[in-house]
Amino acid sequence: MTASSTLPDYREMTPEVSARFERLVQRPVALEVRELTKRFETPKGAVTALDRVSFSVHKREFTCVIGPSGCGKSTLVRILAGLETPTSGEVRVYDHPVVGPGPDRGMVFQSYTLFPWLTVKENVMFGPKMSGTPDFAAEREARQWIEMVGLSKFENAYPHQLSGGMKQRVAIARALANQPRVLFMDEPFGALDAQTRCQMQEYLLEIWKNVDITIVFITHDLDEAVFLSDRILVLDANPGRVREMIPVPVPRPRASSQLFDPAFMATRKHVDELIHPPGTEKKEAPVLRMAAPDPDIL
Ligand SMILES: Nc1ncnc2c1ncn2[C@@H]1O[C@H](COP(=O)(O)OP(=O)(O)OP(=O)(O)O)[C@@H](O)[C@H]1O
Ligand SMILES: [Mg+2]
Repeated sequence: MTASSTLPDYREMTPEVSARFERLVQRPVALEVRELTKRFETPKGAVTALDRVSFSVHKREFTCVIGPSGCGKSTLVRILAGLETPTSGEVRVYDHPVVGPGPDRGMVFQSYTLFPWLTVKENVMFGPKMSGTPDFAAEREARQWIEMVGLSKFENAYPHQLSGGMKQRVAIARALANQPRVLFMDEPFGALDAQTRCQMQEYLLEIWKNVDITIVFITHDLDEAVFLSDRILVLDANPGRVREMIPVPVPRPRASSQLFDPAFMATRKHVDELIHPPGTEKKEAPVLRMAAPDPDIL
């Protein structure tokens, strides 16, 4: 018997986890996506990036969006943030229609987007200052957020003096300083090494615990999705459609030791099978042979 055949069904939950989900869905709806379609006109014809995508997210829920490359994850999050307009369909944040960018929504991207000519503190103060907060109050708020992400010692450093993980912590502080109600994160830890990435995941859960924020987090990484999420939205590619919204049966608070728990592994396996259906695992890479075949190098 293989280890995977002994895993429980990914839908099995302990009574505590199940009760938590029952409470979660009683909370107000923070984000509602209805029948969202996005078509791009390209010289090679129309591309349907998203096809009638619908889902909703509750207040302070942590949702990860996962799916094959090109399934429309970034397009979705850009529409939710108001940076892109849908071809049809609607997005509502706390029942207000999204018609463009707004301070109720924050965004953290994979690429480092800090202003390189501003210090950590100035980067975090930028948003509140733009929305009219006086300098002294913006500085006080910025310090608070910088402390929250553990970078007080670096408030006068410039982005180039920081590691990748530290830059993303500043990016999170900068997004939170605008006091959004929903935070969208598009593969924010995708460029970090594996160890820093795990630390950042634990860090983010700690921030989420302490701040009144609803998070929608895009990722490619199955472990990251299961570790962070209350529910995982799995998208299909070409066109991007909702495959399944999966409640994660892993109890909170989460810890990296849970990676090998049966509930964790069962959920991970299910998501993996949705994204990589059997028979599609191995594709020959189109690599030209530049060396003689060697039976010891396979
Ligand atoms: N501005 C654009 N013009 C034309 N096509 C676009 C545009 N933006 C995205 N697309 C197409 O829409 C589809 C979805 O792209 P998107 O970047 O949203 O995917 P993704 O799931 O984020 O991919 P990845 O996992 O690689 O980041 C792709 O086929 C892409 O080529
Ligand atoms: Mg993307």
